[in-house]
Amino acid sequence: MIEIKDLCKAFGDNIVLKDLTLTVNGGETKVVIGRSGVGKSVFLKNIIGIMKPDSGSIKINGQEVTDLSEREYNKFRMEMGMVFQGGALFDSLNVAENVSFVLDEFMKLDKKTIRERVEEALGLVGLQGIEKMMPSELSGGMKKRVSLARVLCMKPNTIFYDEPTTGVDPITADAINNLIIDLSHKLKVTSIVVTHDMNSAYKVADSIAMFYHGRVIAEGRPDEIRNTRHPVVKQFIHGEAHGPITDNENLIFGHSH
Ligand SMILES: Nc1ncnc2c1ncn2[C@@H]1O[C@H](COP(=O)(O)OP(=O)(O)OP(=O)(O)O)[C@@H](O)[C@H]1O
Ligand SMILES: [Mg+2]
Repeated sequence: MIEIKDLCKAFGDNIVLKDLTLTVNGGETKVVIGRSGVGKSVFLKNIIGIMKPDSGSIKINGQEVTDLSEREYNKFRMEMGMVFQGGALFDSLNVAENVSFVLDEFMKLDKKTIRERVEEALGLVGLQGIEKMMPSELSGGMKKRVSLARVLCMKPNTIFYDEPTTGVDPITADAINNLIIDLSHKLKVTSIVVTHDMNSAYKVADSIAMFYHGRVIAEGRPDEIRNTRHPVVKQFIHGEAHGPITDNENLIFGHSH
């Protein structure tokens, strides 16, 4: 279970998260939606501890993690996997080395187990046999799937997905959605999925939370969000240029309404 309370994070004048509160129950798949730049990736980075919040509380299975040292945090990280938005692969390592990085460096598993887990994980993401390829030889969607394989082979109990289906073809996107659902149902993985892809959101979510101006402005089951009357949420999920959300984009295009 993950409990986030009054989380604040700013970069200089840019207040990104402002008293954000969200609870993810054990085994639940929580989907986080919200506009580009609203702070979804920052939010995930705060939870996995690669970014520190300015204030607020993050409890993982009852343990406050915001004040843990780097070394103490590593214990939690073994159980949590993050699929990064851009893949975050090491350019100088091949696919197998990237996928097995954590197993090799931190879990100290033997070579045979590692090889088997890498093969299994690449199979799960539909990329069998590419162990020897270098990241520079992969497409964007392949990188993302390798990043997912790296998480799967750790067999974590919690997975954070940052835009897992963005930039992959629709068939692969659907396979990734099914994988997220399978991991949740069969292995009882607790997940947070950040996405703009509403098809994916409706399909994988137990519950959807929308971020707006640093907070959660709406939360509910997929059918509740789909039928929302909240004007901001409605505008977002239907992708309409006109509505209460006018900041940024309309400024860029130079009109106020
Ligand atoms: N390391 C950083 N230093 C300074 N500002 C940052 C940093 N990381 C993120 N930001 C700022 O925080 C805000 C939120 O960024 P974030 O990456 O979380 O957005 P996002 O919701 O994930 O957007 P997208 O949907 O485009 O991925 C942005 O204004 C961004 O410029
Ligand atoms: Mg992001």
